[in-house]
Amino acid sequence: MSSSEVQTERVVAPAHNILGSLRLPGDKSISHRYALLGGLAAGKSRFTNFSSGADCASSLACVEAMGAKVTRTADAIEVEGVGGAFTPSSSPLDCGNSGSTMRMLAGLLAPQSGSFTLIGDASLTRRPMERVRKPLAQMGAEIELTEGHAPVTIHGKTLKAMDYTTPVPSAQVKSAVLFAGLQAEGTTTVREAVRTRDHSELALRAFGANVERTLESVSIVGGQKLQAIEAAVPGDMSSAAFFLCAAALFPQSNLIFDGLGMNPTRATLLDVLTALGAHIGVLNLEDKHGELIGTVQVNAPADGLTGTTISGALAAQLIDELPVISAIAPYTKNGIRIRDAKELRVKESDRIALVAQNLRAMGAEVEEFEDGLDIPGGQTLRGATIDAGGDHRIAMAFSVAALRAQGETVIRGAESAAISFPEFFDLLDRVAER
Ligand code: S3P
Repeated sequence: MSSSEVQTERVVAPAHNILGSLRLPGDKSISHRYALLGGLAAGKSRFTNFSSGADCASSLACVEAMGAKVTRTADAIEVEGVGGAFTPSSSPLDCGNSGSTMRMLAGLLAPQSGSFTLIGDASLTRRPMERVRKPLAQMGAEIELTEGHAPVTIHGKTLKAMDYTTPVPSAQVKSAVLFAGLQAEGTTTVREAVRTRDHSELALRAFGANVERTLESVSIVGGQKLQAIEAAVPGDMSSAAFFLCAAALFPQSNLIFDGLGMNPTRATLLDVLTALGAHIGVLNLEDKHGELIGTVQVNAPADGLTGTTISGALAAQLIDELPVISAIAPYTKNGIRIRDAKELRVKESDRIALVAQNLRAMGAEVEEFEDGLDIPGGQTLRGATIDAGGDHRIAMAFSVAALRAQGETVIRGAESAAISFPEFFDLLDRVAER
């Protein structure tokens, strides 16, 4: 969110229950990939249930600025791709708040002809970009950063394939290398110690590319052409996370999600909630373009959530859900311990610091570590003024913490929820019984 934008406050009152059924807007990660690959492909793609968030609008605007034709119909987004060659835009491509847009575009554009400059808002400009410049440079890319950050200027070059092991678990870095590999000479392989979200691999296949996978690697042969697709984007599990965690707080809750994305690389939260004692039912699993979609029902345990430790591979797989897991941690019986989550410090905000600061504002006890948090259970929180720090997931996580607090909570910077989930507050009012 740009600093010039007006901050809005939302008051969140306590609830005594979460009841209802929800169908959520499309997954942000999948929508980004469909926008970018649809922009590159030949032909007109059509996406229903495309993410309503501002981040995915940034991806659409960037491909549009480079020659793709984007049309919004009543129930879909259509993208007529450039058929392999983007046209450099005379002005910089604005990635807004979206790290996914900037990092994945860097890979997509490094092998294209011409020069491209990517810019972002203040938060995105603080985030590390060397992690994509370095592997792409190994393939022969010419990318200039500004002290490791945006603006990112790409001078398109012919790229050579490479075999790359990601040093930090990052689906964005993996995707940047694969998107460059799609247009490089030879076979590019990306290896990762922890399997991060695999939407790029699945989307590349959906658009007609051949992608080979083993347990710990993904390979793509360069020179393949993409063809437009028609796809329904699954509901966003990371958006559902706020409601799943909210429902898990109240013993009488009953919440159902239809059409929810159930990709195993994204559904780890369901295992964590089960480990905490919640009851999760999954029905009607279907495969759409390689992505699993299902119906999910959540009920809370009668005697409250237990507690758990999240570390190692789990921390990487739950990276976007850790703020909301932290926000419900004080209400568990035994608390939640998070480690190996240093990446949280370089997200849209320093999420470790901001979670600790806001939990303390609500009167919680919390210990902050370089790579995580210790949040004891059995605590009573009081309503407070929360600083979302321009970070959508902080605004939404603390709206969930507010549901079990004593008194009202004011979320300062509530507008940032629209980065991924503009409908959040309305849907929360719909399912929260007060
Ligand atoms: C994303 C990957 C993750 C995640 C982000 C979306 C993606 O980032 O936190 O919200 O769509 O690939 P990293 O790749 O930095 O881990």
